[in-house]
Amino acid sequence: MTTLSIFHQNQPEQALTVVTDPDAIRNKLSAHGVHFDRWATRDLPADATEEEILEAYADEVARLKQDWGFQTADVVSLTADHPQKDAFRQKFLDEHTHSEDEVRFFVRGQGLFYLHFGDQVYALLCEKNDLISVPDGTRHWFDMGPEPEFTCIRLFSNPEGWVASFTGEDIASRLPRYESLAGGA
Ligand SMILES: [Fe+2]
Repeated sequence: MTTLSIFHQNQPEQALTVVTDPDAIRNKLSAHGVHFDRWATRDLPADATEEEILEAYADEVARLKQDWGFQTADVVSLTADHPQKDAFRQKFLDEHTHSEDEVRFFVRGQGLFYLHFGDQVYALLCEKNDLISVPDGTRHWFDMGPEPEFTCIRLFSNPEGWVASFTGEDIASRLPRYESLAGGA
């Protein structure tokens, strides 16, 4: 289930609030400029190609491009049998920012976004049908877990600009990881 857990950065052992209602999640994230939405499920074969996935969600992607100025969309997918899964997990596991919005729509599977606002951390477990747009400059990290399973549509204003600028903070290592918050899913 899509779940937002809000922590105080100095009390990572116990969430202040846990929210599962999609409208409540949308409101709490919206207060920090983060766009959250849920799109209707499309029937797609398990082995759908990137082109088939983008075609299935063409209306939603076109609307986001029009409303937010995104130029391109692609599909990223990872499965638990990937030999480099540990390296991929590690890549975005520390706090960082981008000069681009980080936009992900989950076609399949799940992943855990951590958003750092002031002295609080919002941990959002995203699942199939969830859309999240993390504004540029937002301190965040992403945990796909030890057995990653997800397929996401990504949208970009400028794909070349989407690089991580690490803050050097150790906060990510002090918050519960995917293994705790995703409940072994
Ligand atoms: Fe990121």
